[in-house]
Amino acid sequence: MKILLTGARGGLGSECKEVLKSGYEIIAPDREEFDITSWDKVIIAINQLSPDIILNCAAFTKVDECETERKISERINVEGTRNLAQAAARYDKTTVHISSDFVFNGRKRLPQPYFEDDPMDPLCFYGFTKMESEMAVKQNTRNYIIIRAGWLYGIRGDNFLKKILRVALKRKRESICVVNDQFGSPTWSYRVARQIKLLLDNGKEGIYHATSEGYCSRYELAKYFLEKMGIKTPVVPCAAKEYPTPAIRPVNSILENRQLKREGLNVLLNWRKDLDTFIDKYGEDLLREETGAQGD
Ligand SMILES: NC(=O)c1ccc[n+]([C@@H]2O[C@H](COP(=O)([O-])OP(=O)(O)OC[C@H]3O[C@@H](n4cnc5c(N)ncnc54)[C@H](OP(=O)(O)O)[C@@H]3O)[C@@H](O)[C@H]2O)c1
Repeated sequence: MKILLTGARGGLGSECKEVLKSGYEIIAPDREEFDITSWDKVIIAINQLSPDIILNCAAFTKVDECETERKISERINVEGTRNLAQAAARYDKTTVHISSDFVFNGRKRLPQPYFEDDPMDPLCFYGFTKMESEMAVKQNTRNYIIIRAGWLYGIRGDNFLKKILRVALKRKRESICVVNDQFGSPTWSYRVARQIKLLLDNGKEGIYHATSEGYCSRYELAKYFLEKMGIKTPVVPCAAKEYPTPAIRPVNSILENRQLKREGLNVLLNWRKDLDTFIDKYGEDLLREETGAQGD
């Protein structure tokens, strides 16, 4: 089976490219060759390449910038996704689309998780575009998988852990403040890629939550990560309201992989266990990347 993969240079897309190449033929044009916001490019490419599956990992993911760059973020996240879904429907292909924990308002009492069928009610514009992207998939195509991920990290692309490491290395002994009133499940993008492969291998369709087991605050995550990395920079907890950001983030971003578990397909692990494995594998690379970047 042939997969047309978008966003293959991004954090999740690059993992999907690696993981899915055993078992699938992957075509992964970059953004210059295949801009999802261009209907003409999308329809011509899908007609010519004739993939069986379109896996959309492309998105405008800078959550705060989405507040100021509303047109661009809507164009990429909503119109781009709609283009892919409509083209997929025209040629009877399967669409796999990645959505987000930010489609929920996070007001459920902690630690109650969100389920696949809970109503969407995003707090910020990024979350709004992700909700609309889901609607674009559901309204335009019959054969689809929507995967809601959250708090992704990995070796490629930028992410929360890399930012924390960058700041900690700069500050050295001076403490860093991290919010302790936003909760979620840190998830290794490699594991999500494995989950996507398993769903495709089994011919599944529908909406799935795919985040690690267990949860923590951003403060707990930063502290755990830096300790495991052997970085001594002290981490102190603070409240989100002390550090206002343009985009409001949900307090509770905990998702339950209920559908995956019902179908006996959940491959996601406890977040600490998986983060340990990630650090064992990539800790030195992360340090090299960040110390190299600071020397620039
Ligand atoms: N990161 C998270 O914590 C998180 C959490 C929940 C859900 N998600 C979702 O997971 C998916 C993947 O996220 P990620 O963190 O891997 O994103 P990422 O690292 O920011 O990568 C996004 C990719 O999209 C590409 N792209 C942007 N605009 C495009 C366009 N118009 N046409 C074609 N490609 C375009 C980018 O290309 P360039 O490299 O050329 O810029 C980049 O490769 C997204 O749908 C995101 O909403 C992410």
